[in-house]
Amino acid sequence: MARSLPPSPLPSLAAVPSRLVVHAEALGWLDSTAPAPGTSVVTSLPDVSEIPELGFDGWRAWFIDAARRILRWIPDDGVAIFFQSDIRYRGVWVDKGYLVLRAAEDEEALLVWHKIVCRKPAGTISHGRATYSHMICASRTLHPPRRPGPDVLADTGVMTWKKAMGVNACRLACRYLQDETATRVVVDPFCGHGTALAVANSFGLDAVGVELSAKRCRVARNLTLPLDDG
Ligand SMILES: C[S@@+](CC[C@H](N)C(=O)[O-])C[C@H]1O[C@@H](n2cnc3c(N)ncnc32)[C@H](O)[C@@H]1O
Repeated sequence: MARSLPPSPLPSLAAVPSRLVVHAEALGWLDSTAPAPGTSVVTSLPDVSEIPELGFDGWRAWFIDAARRILRWIPDDGVAIFFQSDIRYRGVWVDKGYLVLRAAEDEEALLVWHKIVCRKPAGTISHGRATYSHMICASRTLHPPRRPGPDVLADTGVMTWKKAMGVNACRLACRYLQDETATRVVVDPFCGHGTALAVANSFGLDAVGVELSAKRCRVARNLTLPLDDG
């Protein structure tokens, strides 16, 4: 007669979401790594100030190319979510939402949603950097939303450094991935301190980050939640 085993005192290892942070150049890593089904990207591409050696025109072309390569890389059941803040460069407004949409159009990707995330309370006057970020979700295949979500997020949440994604913004992205897509793995090819990775893990999703800075890789490997506020 079969005997049932007593409950294990240890949690199942399979229940613990994994986190891998790779110290590498993102686009080379994407070229050499095939995504498994159920992989989506949540990322924030570097600003011109992070790669000044390219110059503004070089950075702009690089940005569109990088977004295109991410959209090409995701599997058919995946989506790519970009979190980008507009800047003023030498007096001219640079709309990074437009740059992401340019890339999506060039790749014939579909716009799933476009949200605005407030980095400062509405009405705040600032010079140089926008007080909001674009959060844009695109995919090569149709992902019609099953449930409505907010178009405007009033508070991006805790940011671990000035170029970080806010924790609340990452939560919004991961909740969408969990509720509306087949995503099991979240990849951030420009992971910085790993906010998206830590939030993905808190949702039970596996996470992979890629980052050029060895110091930020170390932070990303160890970042834990909660970081906040709620
Ligand atoms: C906008 S920040 C991302 C911040 C991140 N979302 C966070 O919450 O900390 C962009 C990151 O990309 C990294 N980076 C820049 N160029 C890169 C490249 N070619 N490959 C990988 N990482 C790169 C920078 O070091 C920086 O940490």
